[in-house]
Order: sequence, then structure tokens, then C-alpha cells
Amino acid sequence: MADKIQSAYKSSKNIYDDVLTQGNLFSRLYIRFFWSGTDDNEIARRILQYIPDNFSGTLLDVPVGTAVFTESKWAALKGAYITCLDYSDDMLSRAKARLGQYGHIGFVQGDVGNLPMQDETYDTVLSMNGFHAFPDKPKAFSETYRVLKQGGEFIACFYIKGKSRITDWLVSSILSKKGWFTPPFQTEDELRSMLGRYYAETEIHTDGSIVYFRCKK
Ligand SMILES: C[S@@+](CC[C@H](N)C(=O)[O-])C[C@H]1O[C@@H](n2cnc3c(N)ncnc32)[C@H](O)[C@@H]1O
Repeated sequence: MADKIQSAYKSSKNIYDDVLTQGNLFSRLYIRFFWSGTDDNEIARRILQYIPDNFSGTLLDVPVGTAVFTESKWAALKGAYITCLDYSDDMLSRAKARLGQYGHIGFVQGDVGNLPMQDETYDTVLSMNGFHAFPDKPKAFSETYRVLKQGGEFIACFYIKGKSRITDWLVSSILSKKGWFTPPFQTEDELRSMLGRYYAETEIHTDGSIVYFRCKK
């Protein structure tokens, strides 16, 4: 499974940013047809707004991917300390090319299911478009919770099943077979009850087949 994820993201590293940001006509058609037009740029903008522009704490970005959505925000948060973690060396090296010159940003190759950090290290954990790719989702939920400080915020967005037949078909028949997504996937109700077991406060929204939320530990 781990090798499948490494090779899936290695093979897509050159097209990844364009597909996610709808940088060309093909990706705009793909998003409109298969994802009901849900705009990843807009979801990223909404969840990054949850992090104040003067944020000065510790933040874990897992998985950072190529940092296509987070580059400018992370570069500007000079008073914060940000750890960017990803399993794929290829994706992480793209993120390093974007953000490696900043002293307040560090990079770690690792597995969200086995984070190499102490308990309660971070004020904020951000997980953008990660949980639909993570192979062991219960471990990913428990590890992101473990490294978050009491009172800290867990902010995330990812695919959930049960919202659109065509999106669910695409995910199970193509994206999961290629290794970009990894089942099993949660429905909105399953996710709500999981987050409710971990977090004191939750604010959950959906846009098409994407859920985005902020939770307080
Ligand atoms: C769809 S990308 C999202 C990247 C970025 N957050 C974004 O929104 O563009 C999913 C990422 O999850 C990473 N990933 C998959 N399994 C992982 C794991 N077990 N631990 C850490 N990262 C993982 C992949 O390498 C890939 O970079």
C-alpha cells in the first residue's frame, strides 16, 4: 500500500497542481463533470481563513503535498513554526522547492499514522485533501489528535462518499485503483460521529463531495 501511494504521487507530480487548481481546460472540465464543480481553490481559501494572519504558534501541515494551496500563507506566517509532513518524497521535494528558504518552516518525510512528534506539540493541525489518501484513517485521526495541544484546532477537508454517484464511481473505479485515493471512505454521518468522539467542539460544512471543518480539542 505504501509503495502504491509513493508511485501514484510520483507519477502525478507534474500534473498535480494543474488538476487541483483547475489550471487548464481539461482540469476545469474534469472538476465540473466528476466533482459537481466543487472548487478546491475555494475550499482551500475557506479553511485557510480559519488560521489568523498573525498566527504565531506551532502548526503541522499533513500532508503538505506540493504546498500548492498553502505556499503564500505559510511564507507570510513568519512568527509561527510550521512543520510540513508528507509520505511521498516527490511531493515533499516540490513543497521544499516552494518553501525551503524559510527558517520558520521545517519538512519531514513520514506517515500520518505514526507521527514522529511528541504528544500535544501543535496549536493547529491542518490536513488538506489528505484523509481520502491515507490508508489507515483511524490511526490518522488518533495521531493528529495526539499531537494537538489541549485547546488546539484540527482543520481539514477531504472527500466523503454518499454525496454524488458519479464522484463515488470515479473514486472507487479510477482514483483508488491508481493509488491517489485509498478506501474505505466515510459518509458525512460517520465522520460527524467520529469527530464528536474526539473533539469538544466541531464546525462541519460540505460542498459537493468534499467536507471541510474545524474542531477544537
Ligand atoms: C491529494 S494530496 C494533498 C496534498 C495537499 N495537502 C494539497 O491539498 O494539495 C494527498 C497527499 O497525501 C500524501 N499521503 C498519502 N498517504 C500518506 C501518509 N500515510 N502519511 C502522510 N502523507 C500521506 C500523499 O503523498 C499526497 O502528497
